[in-house]
Amino acid sequence: MAMDSELLVRKIRDGTVIDHIPAGNALNVIRILGLPRGRENRMALIMYTSSSKMGLKDIVKVEGLELTADEVNMIALIAPTATINIVRDYKVVRKERVKIPEIIENIIRCANPNCISNQDRETAIPKFRLVSEDPIILRCEYCERHTYKEDILRQFMEGR
Ligand code: CTP
Ligand code: ZN
Repeated sequence: MAMDSELLVRKIRDGTVIDHIPAGNALNVIRILGLPRGRENRMALIMYTSSSKMGLKDIVKVEGLELTADEVNMIALIAPTATINIVRDYKVVRKERVKIPEIIENIIRCANPNCISNQDRETAIPKFRLVSEDPIILRCEYCERHTYKEDILRQFMEGR
């Protein structure tokens, strides 16, 4: 699994490796994370590399980066197979498979402009329930409007 990618890019010393990203989605992942961030976060993007589990996959390696819980959840929404590996002194010290939460709060907006969560953000924090993982479908807790992968991607790409 890691063999192929290591031919392309060597191991990192300290940071985060986002592995098992569905092939072709690494660019979406780096946009969500606001990468590249500059010289503090040396990084590598590996796309369409072979994986025994997935056929093809993408990998993003970033030195000196730690992800917030919201960032991990955003990755889960567009790359549900991803694993987050925390690397310290060349060793993987933590490996976590992302998981789409049953309730998704605050990280995306409802697609319905008339939804209360778009009118009065103070009292109605955007809140969705996970209806389906594959394909991903979320349902707004206020207006019941469905949100799909394309809506999520569009939002993540806006203003970044
Ligand atoms: N990695 C890295 N730098 C390190 C350690 C690991 O870039 N110092 C990368 C590996 O190349 C791999 C990922 O982090 O892409 C996970 O590493 P590891 O757990 O060692 O690999 P596998 O056992 O192949 O992972 P999995 O079982 O999750 O497929
Ligand atoms: Zn709504």
